[in-house]
Amino acid sequence: MTTSILFICLGNICRSPLAEAALRAEAARLGIPVEVDSAGTGDWHLGHPPDKRAAAVASRNGIDISGLRARQVRAEDFHHFDHIVALDAQNLADLRGMRPQGSRAELSLLLDHVEGRAGQAVADPYYGQDEHFDVTWQDVTEGAKGLARKLAATE
Ligand code: 4NP
Repeated sequence: MTTSILFICLGNICRSPLAEAALRAEAARLGIPVEVDSAGTGDWHLGHPPDKRAAAVASRNGIDISGLRARQVRAEDFHHFDHIVALDAQNLADLRGMRPQGSRAELSLLLDHVEGRAGQAVADPYYGQDEHFDVTWQDVTEGAKGLARKLAATE
């Protein structure tokens, strides 16, 4: 059965598109059927492609994310997705605040899926430099691997 996962950050142009790409790659590697998407809690970048620095780090790691477009999380997402995974604690708090009655989605923090990193945030690289995006990529890859392992175990 296909598992659906939605990644959430603030702008949907840096961290969550990278998490989306990393999980899609890891699930393909493990042969796990997934539907993956990402969205932001904020609305500043609706319809925009990923930040150039995020697209560049994905490209350095062999993945093209230039076709993705930012959107904002909406109430229907809580009914559609099996898992909604926040990149930091503020994103998770915002999701908890907007969660509608009868929501099916299981909410979590991405790094909760990594042993020894529960509760940690994937830091916002937006005001950082290129090297911060390499750290973002390492973090989302570690999170995606942990999450994919769990999905494979429950398949
Ligand atoms: P993201 O990064 O949440 O990882 O996509 C940000 C993108 C935009 C802004 C903040 C963070 N912003 O303030 O516009």
